[in-house]
Amino acid sequence: MLTAPVLHLAKKLILDFTTNASDRPLIVQFGAHSSTDFARAAEMVKPYTDGINLNCGCPQTWAIQEGIGCKLIQQPQLVKEMVRAAKDRCGEDFCVSIKIRIHHDLRETVDFVKIAEGSGVDYITVHGRRRSQKSSEPVNLEAIALVKSAVGVPIVANGDVFNLEDVEKIVGVTGVDGKFLSVIRVPRGSGKPECWVPFGSWLPVPDKKYLNI
Ligand SMILES: Cc1cc2nc3c(=O)[nH]c(=O)nc-3n(C[C@H](O)[C@H](O)[C@H](O)COP(=O)(O)O)c2cc1C
Repeated sequence: MLTAPVLHLAKKLILDFTTNASDRPLIVQFGAHSSTDFARAAEMVKPYTDGINLNCGCPQTWAIQEGIGCKLIQQPQLVKEMVRAAKDRCGEDFCVSIKIRIHHDLRETVDFVKIAEGSGVDYITVHGRRRSQKSSEPVNLEAIALVKSAVGVPIVANGDVFNLEDVEKIVGVTGVDGKFLSVIRVPRGSGKPECWVPFGSWLPVPDKKYLNI
């Protein structure tokens, strides 16, 4: 996650963001709480990426204090404005997604994704834990299923994925259409992201059944 609130310092982004031609598909994630910052950040990385993601899921105290990450799940209208601003700046075809955690009251999560959907967001990744939950607690797959049933936008399930059997279980329990589901996780302790992506035309990735990066 790159923090966008300081993106008026263009040099800061250039220092933080490096990539190369083989680093594809590439979605760059930002932590931001301003439409202007998010849209400018999107515009700056657009030439080098397949899409951007707004982090609405980071549970860390410093992020909440800065008004980014998980704090944004309390501000659906702001998130809608931020996605819209990025789309307006970069074009409708540029992939803009968000990643959220679930609320204590799942009705808030449903309301949130419905409002977010109205922004034109390309997909929503749902980490099935609340802000206060530890990663040792199981992910709430029923909550992800509830979200999936409430909206038409593609939903990406996130959390508690260790192998392809887990992927298949998640697809089964959440009711998410397989071609619309991917699961991205950082294995605990390794720091190396892994990504399983059943193909779907909504995601700017090569047409492979599973990527493991
Ligand atoms: C050290 C660490 C750093 C992480 N940083 C990010 C991050 O910057 N953005 C993000 O969306 N998720 C981040 N995550 C969360 C993972 O991407 C993912 O949501 C999570 O590992 C999946 O849930 P699991 O703990 O059940 O595997 C991080 C996780 C860890 C352990």
